[in-house]
Amino acid sequence: MQRIVVLNPKGGSGKTTIAINLASYLASRGHRPVLMDFDPQGSSVRWAKKRQPAQPPIPVIAAFEKDSRTTRSFQLRVPDDATHVIVDTPAAVEPRQLPDITRDAHKILVPVLPSDIDIHTCSRCIGDLLLVAKIRRDENRIGVIANRVRRNTLMYQALIRFLHTLGIPIVAIIRDSQNYVRAAEHGIGVHEMKSYLARSDVEQWAPLVSWLTGEPDGTLSPRGTAAAPGQEAPGEGAPESGDAAQDAQEPPVAAQPPRAAQPPGPNADVPAPADEIIAAAVPAL
Ligand SMILES: Nc1ncnc2c1ncn2[C@@H]1O[C@H](COP(=O)(O)OP(=O)(O)O)[C@@H](O)[C@H]1O
Ligand SMILES: [Mg+2]
Repeated sequence: MQRIVVLNPKGGSGKTTIAINLASYLASRGHRPVLMDFDPQGSSVRWAKKRQPAQPPIPVIAAFEKDSRTTRSFQLRVPDDATHVIVDTPAAVEPRQLPDITRDAHKILVPVLPSDIDIHTCSRCIGDLLLVAKIRRDENRIGVIANRVRRNTLMYQALIRFLHTLGIPIVAIIRDSQNYVRAAEHGIGVHEMKSYLARSDVEQWAPLVSWLTGEPDGTLSPRGTAAAPGQEAPGEGAPESGDAAQDAQEPPVAAQPPRAAQPPGPNADVPAPADEIIAAAVPAL
């Protein structure tokens, strides 16, 4: 069973969106993911409860609830047949909590938005993961996701430059797309929408999946189909013209293989220049 933690102390960076769409991806391919929601806002719990009987079930654990009638470990128990546990975390996780949150995590996904404030918060978060949670780069457990990206903007270029300096792989570049908003409203992910509506979004998950699995082709031994028929969100219309216009300019992500695809080099645990950048960006370190 693989445990994947989605983390970034900044609210609105896309933690829940990444967590539920990853769960949707895995479930639509015949795996048995479980969502564990530590955020008192309960967005992942609400999403999972919206799923229809025709959709592959995704059990969800409301880990943010404190239930005095049962032990904590009983409350957090995962079904025996689960293949993946995807942990959605709240905003404002404190650095001292990171060792506990990340201890058993096989992979830690850090979504970041292309904005100055978010880049700064992300640098702080990565710094805390390296220095407080003591995760080494050569463990290849941390992956950054550039989220809500609009290519050909200066902020996007600044974000990508910043991510490259971190010495942490960029495991996906996810565009800003109303499909994420529409899918979430209906308890599904983009992977369960009609493929002609969400193809551009679905394609962007391939590098992330190959990083999670270590398989270069971006597949997860699919047992189901990419988009189960009849599972599109009701009332789906054509993609917004903004999205379509963006697609026209966008090369597929595969044309820019993320650094995640590369195995750690011989100098992987030699401190990267990123430490200096993190230190400069984060006065507290
Ligand atoms: N790639 C995306 N494209 C469009 N909207 C997005 C995208 N990622 C997130 N959002 C929207 O941004 C808002 C915040 O995302 P959310 O996943 O709830 O962030 P977090 O869990 O980090 O607080 C939500 O309304 C979500 O639908
Ligand atoms: Mg959330």
